[in-house]
Formats: sequence, C-alpha cells, structure tokens
Amino acid sequence: MSIRVLRPGQTYREVTLKDGRTAILRTPDWHDLDALLAFIAELVDERAEILRTTKPSREEEAEWLGRRLASIEKGNSVVLVAEINGRLVANSEVEQRAPQFPEMSHVGVLGISVLKNDRGVGLGTVLMESLIKLAKQAGLKVLILDTFATNKVAQHLYKKAGFVEVGKIPKAIHRDGNYIDLIRFAIEI
Ligand SMILES: CC(C)(COP(=O)(O)OP(=O)(O)OC[C@H]1O[C@@H](n2cnc3c(N)ncnc32)[C@H](O)[C@@H]1OP(=O)(O)O)[C@@H](O)C(=O)NCCC(=O)NCCS
Repeated sequence: MSIRVLRPGQTYREVTLKDGRTAILRTPDWHDLDALLAFIAELVDERAEILRTTKPSREEEAEWLGRRLASIEKGNSVVLVAEINGRLVANSEVEQRAPQFPEMSHVGVLGISVLKNDRGVGLGTVLMESLIKLAKQAGLKVLILDTFATNKVAQHLYKKAGFVEVGKIPKAIHRDGNYIDLIRFAIEI
C-alpha cells in the first residue's frame, strides 16, 4: 500500500444505524486528540478484550496520533473513526504490516473498537466493510488480525466480513491469572 485514499479529517461516508442514529465515518485529525484519549481510557476502564491495559498520557497519545497521521499521509494506513452527535464512538484502522519489507508490503493489520454504549447497532459491521474496501483501493491484498479466543462477538464480526481463522497462538495472553489463546484471522481482498 502506498496509495493515499483519504486525507486526515476527510469524511468518508454517513450511515444510518439500526437505532436510527446517524454516524459519520471519517479519518481522524489533530482535533481528535482529546476525544481519542477519552476513547482509549474508556476501553481500558471497561477491560475490553484488547491488548492495551493502561491509559496513555496525553503526550503518548499525541505521539501515537502524530505517527498515525503521518502514516495516513504516506498511504501506509487507512484509519476510520465514527462520530455520533459529535462524539467519537469508534476507532478502526488497517496499517501496512511492515512497510520496510517490500515483499510484505501488500499485507495490512486490521484493528477495530466501538465504545460499549454504541455496540450492537451495526457500527462494527459498516466499519469492517469500509476498511476492507479502502484497504483494497490502497493496494493491499491480504489483511490479518489477532483476537482473544474468548472474544466471540469480534470473531462473529470478522467471519461475517469474510475473514477466516488461520491459526492460534496458545496462551498468548495472561489476564487475571488465566491464560487466553490468541486466534489469527486473515482475508484475501
Ligand atoms: C467487536 C466490536 C468491534 C463489534 O462492534 P459492534 O458495533 O457491536 O458490531 P455490530 O453492531 O456491527 O455487530 C456485529 C455482529 O455482532 C453481533 N453482536 C453485537 N453485540 C453482540 C453481543 N453483545 N452478543 C452477541 N452478539 C453480538 C451483532 O448481532 C452482529 O451480528 P449480526 O450482523 O449477525 O446480527 C465491538 O464489540 C467492540 O468494540 N468490542 C470491544 C473491543 C474489541 O473487542 N475489539 C476487537 C478486538 S480484536
């Protein structure tokens, strides 16, 4: 991938959710720093089944966002946030796995999260569809992702989007005294 399909802050599409609300899907920009900080803090507080378990400082989040925006500009990432009534409620991305290795430059890693109160109304589904379409336009051929074996909702979402389970890393996660396997999914696009 090295084709930039959306610039930072650009609106991609508007969708009507199952509960009738409208969500705007767009790429993030610098104005989203505090909203993204609050977003990740809420997922950490929830103990969502994601790898991050500590809240980043504002400085760390700014560094992360700066790298993301540069990566979007270079065409190495496709990032979509979802906004409902001016609130940032979802973040998702496909990032080129190893831009430094030309023989793997067609592989992207997908990540997606929706805030708890806004789940189950179709946002995850529409973000997956959109990311896959945009990643394809950007020139990627294969997408991969890892998920907790216990995260059945996410696995259902990935299978519905066409991903297939390709492997398992046993006991990759140690959480609250229990080991959890990581399941890897992949799709050719
Ligand atoms: C996984 C996640 C992104 C799904 O997002 P979402 O916006 O709820 O997804 P949708 O509303 O499009 O629902 C997708 C499917 O899951 C089903 N689903 C949603 N919530 C569910 C629940 N609590 N229990 C059972 N099924 C559920 C929906 O019915 C839908 O299936 P269907 O289309 O066959 O009816 C969201 O749950 C999430 O962010 N979880 C926390 C972070 C996380 O786990 N990220 C993934 C890390 S690998």
